[in-house]
Amino acid sequence: MLGTTAIKTSNVSSLAIGTYDYRDTLLASEKVNWNIDDIIGGDKKLDFSKRFMPEALARVQDLSFLNDDEKRILNQIRGYAYLSIFGIVEEFIVPFVLDHVRPSLDTDDYRVRAFLHFAEEEVKHIQLFKRFCEEFRAGFATECKIIGPASEIGKAVLAHNPTSVALAILMIEWMTQAHYLDSIKDDSDLDSQFKSLLKNHWIEEAQHAKLDTRMVESLADGLDEDGIAAAIDGFLAIGGFLDEGLKQQTLFDLEALETATGRTLSVEEREVFVTTQLQANRWTYIGSGMVHPKFQQMLDRLGYDARARIDEVAPVFA
Ligand SMILES: [Fe+2]
Ligand SMILES: [Fe+2]
Repeated sequence: MLGTTAIKTSNVSSLAIGTYDYRDTLLASEKVNWNIDDIIGGDKKLDFSKRFMPEALARVQDLSFLNDDEKRILNQIRGYAYLSIFGIVEEFIVPFVLDHVRPSLDTDDYRVRAFLHFAEEEVKHIQLFKRFCEEFRAGFATECKIIGPASEIGKAVLAHNPTSVALAILMIEWMTQAHYLDSIKDDSDLDSQFKSLLKNHWIEEAQHAKLDTRMVESLADGLDEDGIAAAIDGFLAIGGFLDEGLKQQTLFDLEALETATGRTLSVEEREVFVTTQLQANRWTYIGSGMVHPKFQQMLDRLGYDARARIDEVAPVFA
């Protein structure tokens, strides 16, 4: 039954206890700061004979009707979508972070600098993703469609309760940590250029996850049971909205694969493709964040039945 295992709390201000420090976060981010030109450009090119995405996210190996070349091509299509979708998501993170810090610019200098640095890094990431997308399009023979436009997706997400949006962003930030550490770091067969992008993104996202934890804490501070329930309702609505986008993206990826390989899949093969790849997309962009221990810790700290409600839906995105 929902709520029976959740930690109860009536004082969400206790959330701030033992949390991340703004000064430490800022100093850590300044230490690892990189430039786009260090990562791509000149002789730093994508190698299209290699896979771009780890199999744990791409899930192409079980598509037995595809040969090895076709699996690699699909893997690369998924890589292009990964760059594009993260670019889309980060476009709504930037205004959200700026809006969060704007009303209190005179309270804590480290806090302000940490959040502005966070926003600046996301803008840099968007630019980096765009550069990689350009490289991809230059080296990949056919068109790969992407959901969008980013501005409409952002508008729909940002229309939700701010605590819901902050929770969705927190899920995304922790997700990038899991992607790199669990399935990219030790995969020595990935294209080194693509892997370098994922590694450099992971390095900076580590501080974002901490800062977003602080955002959720301050937004949820003082919320009662109804307030927490509304935040989770909004979070689930954002998840449902993103899931609709992933359904469309899966169909775009199918189309891209058929165009790139010059092959038309049978009705049965398409069905298997859509089922398998939609689930792979769900895990990549939603499920892997929902089950991240740090995200779950935040849900526990929110109290009431926040954790139980997310635990109940997480298997859909596994
Ligand atoms: Fe980012
Ligand atoms: Fe981020």
